[in-house]
Amino acid sequence: MPEAPAEQPQENPLNAIAEKGLAPEPCSIVIFGGGGDLAKRKLLPALYNLKLDGVLPENFCVVGMARTERSDEEFRSFAREGLEKFSRQDLDAQQWAEYERALFYVPGSFSDPAAIARLKEKLEEVEPQLGVPGNRIFYLSIPPSGIAPCVEQLKRAGLITPTDEKGPFSRVIVEKPIGHDLASAQEINGAVSDVLDESQVFRIDHYLGKETVQNILVMRFANSIFEPLWNHKYIDHVQITVAEEEGVGTRAGYYEESGAMRDMVQNHILQLLCLTAMEPPWSVQAGVIRDHKMEILNCLRPIQGADVASHVIRAQYSAGNHNGVEVPGYRREAGVAADSITETYVALKVFVDNWRWAGVPFYIRTGKRLPKRASEIAVQFRDVPPILFNTNQSQPVQPNVLRLRIQPDEGLSMRICSKLPGPKVQLRPVEMDFQYGDAFTGQSPEAYERLLLDVMAGDATHFMRRDAVEVSWTWIQNLLDAWRQGGERWLPEYSAGTWGPVEADRMIDADGRKWRTV
Ligand code: BG6
Repeated sequence: MPEAPAEQPQENPLNAIAEKGLAPEPCSIVIFGGGGDLAKRKLLPALYNLKLDGVLPENFCVVGMARTERSDEEFRSFAREGLEKFSRQDLDAQQWAEYERALFYVPGSFSDPAAIARLKEKLEEVEPQLGVPGNRIFYLSIPPSGIAPCVEQLKRAGLITPTDEKGPFSRVIVEKPIGHDLASAQEINGAVSDVLDESQVFRIDHYLGKETVQNILVMRFANSIFEPLWNHKYIDHVQITVAEEEGVGTRAGYYEESGAMRDMVQNHILQLLCLTAMEPPWSVQAGVIRDHKMEILNCLRPIQGADVASHVIRAQYSAGNHNGVEVPGYRREAGVAADSITETYVALKVFVDNWRWAGVPFYIRTGKRLPKRASEIAVQFRDVPPILFNTNQSQPVQPNVLRLRIQPDEGLSMRICSKLPGPKVQLRPVEMDFQYGDAFTGQSPEAYERLLLDVMAGDATHFMRRDAVEVSWTWIQNLLDAWRQGGERWLPEYSAGTWGPVEADRMIDADGRKWRTV
């Protein structure tokens, strides 16, 4: 009989914050882009789930703002639709009734002073009714070009309180993408810092709110067996895969200007790399963790000259059969230019030039319309010497691989070599596997739940600091510039439903390695 999983205490997200002496405070959350997809799918359901879990401050309200005319009532129906479809937990009539009473809406544009004045009036009207002491979080779920005008208007309207005053707080959450390139990111960050202190700015990267991503540091530093091996002496290479099954969907307008490098590598994947590669931080305080991640970004070897072609592969999906369904190629998707050279796939070979990682390649790949949704970090250890069990060169012993499975099959596994039972010495790789679903009862909170709670508590650990955004962009910009100068009119292709272009296989094959099956 397999051993029943031990009953685990329900993990309380407040614990992590409380350890730092912080707690979520009563506040209003203003969502610019309040009628959008993010609000409906993620933000409004996330806040509701925090309420169900009993961790949302009691005195609290949400004000959605967008150009579409809507009443408070209509905004509540919009929120309810979102919850019915996307909430992690079921709707509870009593809890919903309390939640909806705290939802309000103001129609108008974030760059229109009259609309911002109406927003201010609304806040001043509803906050006293709900016992909210004037603490405000402004969630900028708007295009990057709107960030500067929006914070500027907030400042003019007196909606940003200075940090040196003892009074209610103002915090701003900035959604990605932060800019389109280094110059635009610097410009946005500059405009934000003209109005806000860095401690008031929370640049969100939702990967940092994922339970499995937060577990990377715990796995590395709460176990004594990994850290001694976590370096170039024992690790052969690392593979980071973020595979998506979906195509561009309805987001061509954004994606055409972005592509996989800007959309995924500049933010989510470089953050995964930082967490995998960083030195042990000496504290969990935001500043310390963020400094340690910065060290890794600063050590990324720039990819230049001929290396751009050999270390960075970009490609686009063509028509194919995706799980039995014929799907169009990227250039045939609605809203995509017929001669688009936007990459929907990118694979890179990256080096972190510090003592720990000297000579260890990090292979990265991400793409849309791959065979399945699967993200993982796989750390492959060095081969055992060709002595004793590893003498047959035609059948080498499979090296140990530690896989941190980010999603959807969350868990961690270790491939080790074992003797096949029987009189002969025959070796077989076996997996030691830990699955979240088996080991823990209870669901993990969604990334946005965790991150919104952190902002209410003022904990910036899992948010991007200005310098990290800009250093990441500097590294990426190099590649974007080289691509632009190359002037290609055509990109390698991969059929939808396959694991990327042959060029990516050739890149890793040239090093005598293979992409892992995920
Ligand atoms: C977003 C990207 O940041 O992350 C999307 O803009 C991508 O293109 C998404 O699909 C992936 O997030 P997740 O949580 O589904 O892996």
